[in-house]
Amino acid sequence: MDDYNKFTGNIKLKTGIDLSLYKEGQMKRRLTSLRDKRGFSNFDNYFQAVAEDQLLFEEFLQRMTINVSEFFRNPQRWKVLEEKIIPRLLAKSPKIKVWSAACSTGEEPYSLMMLLHNYRNYPQINLLATDLDEAVLARAKAGFYTERALKEVENERLEKYFSKEDLGYRVGKELKQAVSFKKHNLLSDSFDTNYDLIVCRNVMIYFTEQAKDELYKKFSRALKPGGVLFVGSTEQIFQANRYGLEAEDTFFYKKISDI
Ligand SMILES: C[S@@+](CC[C@H](N)C(=O)[O-])C[C@H]1O[C@@H](n2cnc3c(N)ncnc32)[C@H](O)[C@@H]1O
Repeated sequence: MDDYNKFTGNIKLKTGIDLSLYKEGQMKRRLTSLRDKRGFSNFDNYFQAVAEDQLLFEEFLQRMTINVSEFFRNPQRWKVLEEKIIPRLLAKSPKIKVWSAACSTGEEPYSLMMLLHNYRNYPQINLLATDLDEAVLARAKAGFYTERALKEVENERLEKYFSKEDLGYRVGKELKQAVSFKKHNLLSDSFDTNYDLIVCRNVMIYFTEQAKDELYKKFSRALKPGGVLFVGSTEQIFQANRYGLEAEDTFFYKKISDI
């Protein structure tokens, strides 16, 4: 077994994170450059250090999970969500159950909540936001953002949901409390069911084909009939019908049958 494969095996034993389900070339490059930067000549030595040093471990986790996000990322897709998908989902039910999976630092679930709050009061919106990385979840809960992350947020919403601070904006208490944040690994933890809407964007690109195939099945089973999976703008699902899904609009997949 080569040095890198041994490393991925050790990381899995220690943390439950299975790096072999992420595309290898990309992941290996990222981790090799970090390892070299920290002065380790091979993955064996690097693993020993990561296993003993919390800061090195957090740095490793940050490097492997790419955390970039922003509010209303790909705004045209969010318009479709707001004007077409959500009205259909809400037409039949006063309540809505939503999951923002791999939510990073919170921009995505807070965008969702602002949008849903146009239509319903907070108690009627059940919104779970999850990520593998506890450090990003802590930032999501803190809810502080610089102007760059907020460039797609309309002024009216900024005023309604945020308060201005010296270096940026903070999400207001009510909006924040309406979202439940939880640690969750998409590749190994179980999924809740009966979702109207699952938003999982810009993480599947990092997974192997086999891992994606498994994940689409699990998402499909987690949706209600007629429920929707909203994916990232480079993450089109080929042969969606294999998963009981059908394209309702570009990057939106509606559950049409059980699998
Ligand atoms: C690029 S961000 C995407 C954030 C947001 N969904 C968006 O589109 O702006 C990718 C996120 O996926 C998370 N992630 C990576 N592997 C994961 C896994 N196995 N389970 C859950 N989250 C994971 C990372 O921690 C990171 O926060």
